Amino acid sequence: MAEHTDTIRPEFHITGKRGWINDPNGLIKFKGEYHVFFQYYSSSVNWGPMHWGHVKSKDLLSWQRLPVALSPDSQDDGCFSGTAIVWKGRLWLMYTSFKENGGGENIRQLQAVASSFDGVHFEKHGIVIGEKDLPDEYSPCDFRDPKIFAHGKELYCLVAARRKDGRGRILLFSSDDMFRWKFVRDVLKEDSDGIMIECPDYSKKLGLLTYCEQFQPPQGEKHLNIHSTFYRAGNLNKGFGESEIIDYGFDFYAAQIFKETPVMIGWLNMWDRNIPYGKYGFAGMLTLPRKICVKKGRLFQKPLFKGRRVKDLRAREVYDNASTGVIEISVRNLKSLRLELRKKDGMQTVITADKAQLTFDRSLSGEPIVGKETDALSLAGLRKLPLDSRQKHTVTVVTDLFSVEIFVDGKALSSAVCPDPDADGIVLRCNADSCRYVRYDLSDYMKITD
Ligand code: FRU
Repeated sequence: MAEHTDTIRPEFHITGKRGWINDPNGLIKFKGEYHVFFQYYSSSVNWGPMHWGHVKSKDLLSWQRLPVALSPDSQDDGCFSGTAIVWKGRLWLMYTSFKENGGGENIRQLQAVASSFDGVHFEKHGIVIGEKDLPDEYSPCDFRDPKIFAHGKELYCLVAARRKDGRGRILLFSSDDMFRWKFVRDVLKEDSDGIMIECPDYSKKLGLLTYCEQFQPPQGEKHLNIHSTFYRAGNLNKGFGESEIIDYGFDFYAAQIFKETPVMIGWLNMWDRNIPYGKYGFAGMLTLPRKICVKKGRLFQKPLFKGRRVKDLRAREVYDNASTGVIEISVRNLKSLRLELRKKDGMQTVITADKAQLTFDRSLSGEPIVGKETDALSLAGLRKLPLDSRQKHTVTVVTDLFSVEIFVDGKALSSAVCPDPDADGIVLRCNADSCRYVRYDLSDYMKITD
């Protein structure tokens, strides 16, 4: 790994500090503190044998790093994504125990549990949903990412699976003792558009199912990313509505929701793309936690942050400097808007908007981030978010050293960027009946500590 191995890091986004991370796992409140786990491989900035990294927080704003919670051992070659539940006084993790077995048809992905009394040290208990529990028509090679929840005295679990003769499905299992599980049903009863489903999550309280699809074909300019994360409003008894993407940006995957509070976190990266900031010795970040709600079948998201208000201007033209923090732009009767961020020597990240849509442009953001997408918008470094037709909008832009997350009308657009860490210019030009620019410095309230 390169120089700066420990110094250049996102200021308030969860990373593994060193090495690779992907999906958030097991979002849970235990003994008054919020815990977030994540897929982690500390020895490289590329994906490798999966461990569960671990951080905790009292307020969802600042996070403290904890020792690795799960590691591969003689039982498995990787501890893949999963979930957490507080049950009978212990914190339980349910994860996919991955066995390579020489690859191909011999791969096994089965569901295992581990538990902890103190929320820091975990004991593995082995596989609890094995090959014999999986109905014949599904493949044990692609059976992963359990989401566990309790309903009355019964435990339930959603697991992503692939039909041997088809595509991705979400299966429901139940148990009354955590160790013996039985198959209940196939939840959506239809093949996914993508080849496989990953990371399902379900909140009965919110009436929300979320999941990812791998290699799903785009619909027009919708979900251009090679893999996408979707939601459907509804519930397990009555069924779910149409699918909609959660985030319009380049880099958002594997969203998970806290059991106790309507807050969602995703992986702020995407498979099959380069991660240029890996040269600093870390790869992958989690999104800022987002407060979510569902109204009339639609998901609304806003970022959870606390900061010191350092600028508050009513102006249509603003020049400012900051490399990280939150900018809120409130407009009435918007005609056009252009916000340039992280400016330095021709480098800039640009957000534009008109009445109908907001566009994010990372083509000049810094080191290029490229994926397998071949459509014109992706190649041009562009992502678009449709605006609601209303008089007032507030555009909230959360910028950390290697990411930009934009929230407007309850929608989100999140992407990684790789400018020079000290690129800090900000220019706003806005044509609207009124425009207010507010900037918050988060450094007093939001930190990641060891
Ligand atoms: C999703 C995913 C999961 C799997 C994990 C492995 O990003 O592919 O399906 O459990 O990552 O790290």
